[in-house]
Amino acid sequence: MTLRNQTLFFEQFRRNFTQMGAILPSSPALGQAASAHLAQPRPPARILEAGAGTGSFTREIIPLLIPGDRLDVVEISSELTGFLQQRLLDEGLLRRSGVAGAGRDIRLINADLLQFPFDTDYDFIIFSLPLTNFPPDMVAALLAIMMQHLRPGGVFSYVKYIFIGQFKYYLGGAQTRAQMDANQAIIQDYARQYQFERRVVLANVPPTWVHYWRKPGE
Ligand SMILES: C[S@@+](CC[C@H](N)C(=O)[O-])C[C@H]1O[C@@H](n2cnc3c(N)ncnc32)[C@H](O)[C@@H]1O
Repeated sequence: MTLRNQTLFFEQFRRNFTQMGAILPSSPALGQAASAHLAQPRPPARILEAGAGTGSFTREIIPLLIPGDRLDVVEISSELTGFLQQRLLDEGLLRRSGVAGAGRDIRLINADLLQFPFDTDYDFIIFSLPLTNFPPDMVAALLAIMMQHLRPGGVFSYVKYIFIGQFKYYLGGAQTRAQMDANQAIIQDYARQYQFERRVVLANVPPTWVHYWRKPGE
């Protein structure tokens, strides 16, 4: 399963570098860091995983669910969504009904987050779309949607590779640099208002920052 997982991830990367944004699935350590706030004592919650890939984060999130939780896992690639469903069934993390166990409701959804017909807001959003690959208008749209659907007091976590951005910035042309500057300005604007913590995860290829934002209001 691990080899198939990595091969499929890499195939998808070759076909759509912009959307995938990584060559390899994330490590368990990164998945644990991204979902760390779910592990705190808490009441039942609504949780969104944005951009599941082959499920590196999903596998860390599911064991943290408590009765009454609802987890929506949204992934744009139908192939990856299908793989993930089979993987979670094989690993005993999901039942055919979509329920992981008493009162934990898990929905695997093949959809584009930019078009997703949200029917709820979330207490936790665990986001791993490769923002630095996207044009600024798409970054602005995605973050606006995420913040709109984060409940007051809710936590949004997102991952950002260390080094890769700098390589891309210095090796890229003027247009790449302008796009990356514009993206950074959009992200910084949110970070200034909402960021309360960041952690570094060295046990990942490449090493990665996890940023945590909290929406005020509670
Ligand atoms: C960097 S990968 C992260 C995958 C996984 N969380 C991991 O860490 O291994 C980003 C994932 O986001 C998905 N993605 C990209 N754009 C998306 C969109 N607009 N809506 C939903 N998923 C998207 C990609 O298909 C890919 O699986």
